[in-house]
Amino acid sequence: MLRPQGTVAQGQFDLIILSISIMVVVMLVVFAIAAYVWIRFRRKPGQQDVPKQVEGNFKLEVVWTAIPLVLVLILGVFTVQKIFAYGEDYWNDKNAVRVQVTAHLFWWEFSYPDYGITTAQDMIIPTGKKIALELKTADVLHSFWVPSLAGKTDTNTDGTVNKAWIEAEQEGVYLGKCAELCGQSHAFMEFKVKSVSEESFNAWVESMKAPAVLPEDPAVAEVFRTQCLSCHAVGDQGGPIGPNLTGIGSRETVASILLNSEGSGNAVDTRPVQENMEAWLKDPQKWKPGNRMPDPKEDLGLTDAEIEAIAKYLADYKLSYE
Ligand code: CUA
Repeated sequence: MLRPQGTVAQGQFDLIILSISIMVVVMLVVFAIAAYVWIRFRRKPGQQDVPKQVEGNFKLEVVWTAIPLVLVLILGVFTVQKIFAYGEDYWNDKNAVRVQVTAHLFWWEFSYPDYGITTAQDMIIPTGKKIALELKTADVLHSFWVPSLAGKTDTNTDGTVNKAWIEAEQEGVYLGKCAELCGQSHAFMEFKVKSVSEESFNAWVESMKAPAVLPEDPAVAEVFRTQCLSCHAVGDQGGPIGPNLTGIGSRETVASILLNSEGSGNAVDTRPVQENMEAWLKDPQKWKPGNRMPDPKEDLGLTDAEIEAIAKYLADYKLSYE
């Protein structure tokens, strides 16, 4: 938040600086007056009588009403101006990229209605373009927050769809977080916004649209089809209940918390995506307590060998777009 990288975040940062600056000036003036009064009007040695009592001063009261009024007006004008600018609806702007964001316990879904593609956890955007967002939730109240790109926008449970927009000035990977306490794994409900060149973005869209890649080994493919694709989707196959897995090997993380060493961020504690995938599949509740993924071993009866084969397949399922 203190290192803004996008238009909206920059404006919000400027507002923070403006309000803190006004606060500091007010504080210095008040402290200076207080110090002056303490020293100038202190009780001197031998002084016994009560000082002169003053009851109201019209001029003084006008001054200390007018000054805060002016300060609040300055704050108000700039804040309201930004509220309208950042609440601007770019959904019907031909130059904006539209993304429908759906929050789930405890993951994020990103649909691109103009391209007919859906992904999860990594939101890929073109640099320097306005990204028009429609935000909703599939279950409880969450809040969409990418600190270095834009402030928080709630995903409401009453069916209303919130609009927002973001714009990244430079290519890079930006951390996103859920900013509304939503359950046991709220703290792990992270995502990434990956801003790439326009050519890379178009290449990504094309590779997302390519036909699904399934495990080569027919036995593994069968397990994957019957057990995983009932909830998850790859390419044009599978269901919409769990996160879409198309090209999951190219993502920055597994399940948003296990950092892949193949990712482009500078994160520490990274591991190869295949190791992360195996760690996740062998015990999803360990990493993200309360998540809705059935345990592949306990609930679905997969063997260790099958889990390892599926982890390898998913880790190798990469998209080439950079
Ligand atoms: Cu979703 Cu906190």
